[in-house]
Amino acid sequence: MANKNVLFKIKRQATPTSEPFWEEYEIAWRPGLNVISLFMEVAINPVTREGKPTTPVNYDSNCLEEVCGSCAMLINGKARMACSALVDNLEQPLTIEPFSKFPVIRDLQVDRTVLFENLKAVKAWVPIDGTYALGDGPRIVPQVQEKAYQLSQCMSCCCCMEACPQFNESTGFVGAATIAQARLFNMHPTGKVLKEERLAALMGDGGIQECGYAQNCVEVCPKDIPLTKSISDVSGDVMKKAVLDFFRL
Ligand code: SF4
Ligand code: SF4
Ligand code: FES
Repeated sequence: MANKNVLFKIKRQATPTSEPFWEEYEIAWRPGLNVISLFMEVAINPVTREGKPTTPVNYDSNCLEEVCGSCAMLINGKARMACSALVDNLEQPLTIEPFSKFPVIRDLQVDRTVLFENLKAVKAWVPIDGTYALGDGPRIVPQVQEKAYQLSQCMSCCCCMEACPQFNESTGFVGAATIAQARLFNMHPTGKVLKEERLAALMGDGGIQECGYAQNCVEVCPKDIPLTKSISDVSGDVMKKAVLDFFRL
C-alpha cells in the first residue's frame, strides 16, 4: 500500500490571554488513529508540517473511551469527543479547535467551571449526607430506573452547551445538561425533596425559558441523552410551579 499521511491543523493558544494561532501537522497514517493519537504523535515529534520545532499540544483526556467527558473540542467544526473521533471517518485536513464558548486555558484545554456552577445552582444531587448509616435507599421501579439511567450517563462534556445558540453571555442560559440533571434528580425518590428548589432555580434569568428548542444539543450529545424530552418535561414542571406559586400568593 502506498504511504499515506494525515494532515491536520490545530488552533493553539499559549495562555488564557494570548492570541490564538494555527499550526499544521502531517504524520504517517496507520490504522485506527483517533484524534487523541494525533496529539500523541505531535508530542513524540513536536514539529509542524513546515518542519518548524514546536511544543506538544495541551489538551484534557482521561478515559479514552468516551466516558469521562474531558476531551471535548471542536473537530471539523463539530463539538465532539477527541477519543472517539476516528481519523478515517473525518475529512482532511482536520481542523481541531478548543470550544468557542468556554475560556481557553491553553491550546485545546478549556475551563468548563460554568457547568459545575450551574449544577450546584440546581442542586443536582441526592441529599443523603449524614453521620450514620441510612440503610438501603427507596426502591425504584424498573421503568423509572431505565429513564434515570439514560440521564445518569451525562459526562459533563459540555458539547450540548457549545452547540446551543442560546448558551451565551447575553442569556446566561444554564444549558441542556443542567436541565437534564435537574430532571434526573427530580425523578429520584429521595432527590425529589429538593424538586421545588431545583425548579425555582430554573425559573429565573438564564433559566429554562431561555431555551429556543433549536435541538442542536440533542444532535451533538455523545451519550444520546434525551435532552429535548428533558427540557420539555422540566419546562412543564416549571410552568406548573409558576401557576401554583401565583395562586399561593
Ligand atoms: S433545544 Fe436548542 S436552545 Fe434549547 S438547550 Fe438545546 S440547543 Fe439550546
Ligand atoms: S448532556 Fe450530553 S452533551 Fe451535554 S454535557 Fe451531558 S453528555 Fe455532554
Ligand atoms: S478521554 Fe474520556 S471521553 Fe475522551
